[in-house]
Amino acid sequence: MRSDIREILLDREQIAVRVRELAAEISRDYAGRNPLFVSVLKGAVYFLTDLSRAVEMPLEIDFMAITRYGSARAQSGVVRLIKDLDVEITGRDVLLVEDIIDTGLTAGYLIRLLQARSPSTLRICTLLDRPYRRILETLEIGYRGFEIPDRFVVGYGLDYREQYRHLPFIGVLKDEVLREAASAADA
Ligand code: IMP
Ligand code: MG
Repeated sequence: MRSDIREILLDREQIAVRVRELAAEISRDYAGRNPLFVSVLKGAVYFLTDLSRAVEMPLEIDFMAITRYGSARAQSGVVRLIKDLDVEITGRDVLLVEDIIDTGLTAGYLIRLLQARSPSTLRICTLLDRPYRRILETLEIGYRGFEIPDRFVVGYGLDYREQYRHLPFIGVLKDEVLREAASAADA
């Protein structure tokens, strides 16, 4: 598993420190309220559970699930909701907790969907921001963990073909792992 990793970009401790900083910021900003942390299955789950445990105030969590048409990199931005939130968000303080924002199309779609339900406030908290392929330039990011270089990463929730989510760090896969998978897909 770890032999598939070329380089560790963010180790367990770096992630933990930054998550605590974000949680402190969020705790200040939402003091006296009861925000709803919303995440999309499955990538953001690791971040959401760590972030929410570091926040010192009442809060609730809820989940959505989506599928993308075509490959994740198809950049169509067309997303289908396969699981909606369990709760109503009208008048609530909603924080969309994301793993990574790349093109911004997924987050943009979700923000439009949530905004239509008239929450009191709606912000984005993303662990990773990789701005190089951004298509939705207008996306506002309220809280950002790290800006990362223009490389595909796995671990701490992020997958490559559903693998590597459980790695406690964020790393870059070796080129041959990506290449092998690509040639297997062509076969
Ligand atoms: P966007 O719509 O292009 O911003 O893509 C965001 C989604 O694509 C994320 O929620 C991830 O599921 C996936 N994704 C984008 N970049 C990576 C990566 O480097 N590793 C794993 N998943 C990624
Ligand atoms: Mg994925």
